[in-house]
Amino acid sequence: MKAYIFGAGAQGRIVHDILVDSGISADILFIDEDPKLFNKSINGSKVVGDLRYLLRQDPTQAQIHIALGNPILRLRIAEKIKRHGIPLLNVIHPSAVIMETVVLGTGNMIGANVVINSNTKIGNTTIINTAAVVEHDCIIKDGASISPSVLISGRVKVEVGAFICSSAVILPRRTIGEYAVVAAGSVVTKNVEEKTLVMGSPAKVVEKLGKNFDWRRVL
Ligand SMILES: CC(C)(COP(=O)(O)OP(=O)(O)OC[C@H]1O[C@@H](n2cnc3c(N)ncnc32)[C@H](O)[C@@H]1OP(=O)(O)O)[C@@H](O)C(=O)NCCC(=O)NCCS
Repeated sequence: MKAYIFGAGAQGRIVHDILVDSGISADILFIDEDPKLFNKSINGSKVVGDLRYLLRQDPTQAQIHIALGNPILRLRIAEKIKRHGIPLLNVIHPSAVIMETVVLGTGNMIGANVVINSNTKIGNTTIINTAAVVEHDCIIKDGASISPSVLISGRVKVEVGAFICSSAVILPRRTIGEYAVVAAGSVVTKNVEEKTLVMGSPAKVVEKLGKNFDWRRVL
């Protein structure tokens, strides 16, 4: 069995090291669209080819994790790979605490020291980064990104592709809209509309995010 990581950048290296820490028995290999990286070793594992290479592999012998910070790209590539029948791999650091009643989809990354409390539902292809806390009865939808040390209080809903930056706090029962961005250190006291950047404590709208929002701003 082979465990592929799509993306040999910073997110890929984090995912790689979580897989190593979790003692995975499969071979770890990187996939990247940059031919300059082919045959290079990243944190001790080889970049073997691009997406076309991956789609030629036997889906019964492969699992893939999409390690891209940009939520739109992450979801798009996950869709393409799923259509080819290659299963998406959850990458979970052994120090994460995930309660028995949590429902977890596929292709998620859950970092070191994360806590996910009772009856929370996590979709697919999310990133729940180092030391984030997701409290009870939350719904975290596909492609959402929860950055290091974020605190999501109980019964919060995080919609598809929303990006919550480091150390933000979301008060209970709030909804963070699709592809919205919550700036680092913000305290969210009201629902956040889709494709909106909020900032500060209490968080206020500072920008409406158009189609051309550059996700590198938050990465
Ligand atoms: C959302 C974010 C990217 C916005 O940054 P930006 O729009 O590029 O902001 P800029 O750096 O251009 O700063 C614009 C102004 O907002 C202020 N500002 C930026 N981020 C702020 C924040 N999180 N809270 C309060 N003020 C902030 C700046 O000081 C600046 O103020 P000034 O005009 O008075 O000098 C940034 O706030 C952020 O959260 N970055 C961290 C992303 C993160 O956590 N990623 C996960 C990494 S693992």
